[in-house]
Amino acid sequence: MIKAVSARTRLRGEMTIDPDKSISHRSVLFSALAHGDAQINNFLIAEDTLSTLSCVQRMGVRAKREGRTVWVSGQGWEGLREPATILDCGNSGTTMRMFSGVLAGSRFFSILSGDESLNRRPMRRVIEPLKKMGARIQGRSGGTYAPLAINGTPLRGISYDMPVASAQVKSCLLLAGLQAEGATIINEPGISRNHTEIMLQAMGADLSVRDMTITLQPGNKLHAQDITVPGDISSAAFFLVAASIVPDSELLIKDVGLNPGRCGVISILNQMGAAIQIENRRRSCGEEVGDLVVKSSALKGISLDGSTIGTYIDEIPVLAVAMAAAEGRSEVSGAGELRVKETDRIEAVCKELSTMGVDITEKDDGFIVNGSRNSLKGAVVESHGDHRIAMSLAVAALIAEGVTSIRDAQAVEISFPRFWDELERLR
Ligand code: S3P
Repeated sequence: MIKAVSARTRLRGEMTIDPDKSISHRSVLFSALAHGDAQINNFLIAEDTLSTLSCVQRMGVRAKREGRTVWVSGQGWEGLREPATILDCGNSGTTMRMFSGVLAGSRFFSILSGDESLNRRPMRRVIEPLKKMGARIQGRSGGTYAPLAINGTPLRGISYDMPVASAQVKSCLLLAGLQAEGATIINEPGISRNHTEIMLQAMGADLSVRDMTITLQPGNKLHAQDITVPGDISSAAFFLVAASIVPDSELLIKDVGLNPGRCGVISILNQMGAAIQIENRRRSCGEEVGDLVVKSSALKGISLDGSTIGTYIDEIPVLAVAMAAAEGRSEVSGAGELRVKETDRIEAVCKELSTMGVDITEKDDGFIVNGSRNSLKGAVVESHGDHRIAMSLAVAALIAEGVTSIRDAQAVEISFPRFWDELERLR
């Protein structure tokens, strides 16, 4: 699908954002591992999270969905059955990495596979520590890539210093640790989102966090909890940047998840001169939630050194658009992880924004932008099959001269299926 987007004079109104992808994945998988019935409200209906739901069902767990409500009847680990077919994780790294932790300690054989993009993403980061726990797991190219073949086996807890800050790897090891013998201790090198810790604690796991160390003692049964998923801050980010850079805009974005490990984008944009305010702060299911008010403003360049990258990793493509619209120089460093996301996001952002006239230079671990809002020109650009690249280019198009045609625009179905409709509605 090709989407044509033209410049806008202003974006105004009130909106809700599609539900949080990370929390939706976890809500279904953890409920499947718990004992009892859970109702999940405001589950994200998108390709990635539907992959998780279907993998859970393929392991014999009773899970039913009507609209955005999902009911899961968990019977603990013992309720999981050997899947008769491969578990297809589609485009979702979160699904593959979390399931590998669950399946490593199961009593059966399973295979995890994904689409072309996912089967090119690094899996050694989960295979290596899982093997230290005793797992029997293999992947293509000597354990580098999926498909992954897993012979479930009893595991032992380990103490592990994670080489990269990654919530997916951390979650994989915690899930494996739940079935292991002895404690699992994880030392994180930097902040990553902690939805897994919050949800497992709420379900009764014996898990404690001190500084950057997580200690999990196995043994406690998980108890099913009803969960309401907040709006996804990573999806809200596209509208935060859009309303900041399109003149005369004002948006109210309601019910957005504000987990501190996800809010980097708000503080970065505000440091760039944006006017984003948080209202109606509250807590829901252990997570911080609030409403965001954003008004257009003149942005200035910023340098990001990567020290807290886990709090804004998924928002860097759209932050690059904010940097292009800002006056002055911006630099992103320490963001090498972007090269192993759904696509190489450093290369994709630099290539496509350059095509739109932006002065952006690729570095190994990031990029340099010399911003000037009048430099953006409509062009034919590519999503690279990556949802966040497609939406970032749409935001850039809102201030570009002429029309921008975005190829492979259906990629938004991965995380934010209502994106094009919402953009249209705010016209
Ligand atoms: C996610 C963690 C992040 C993020 C991804 C979702 C999660 O990946 O980029 O979109 O739900 O745990 P890493 O853990 O690899 O940094």
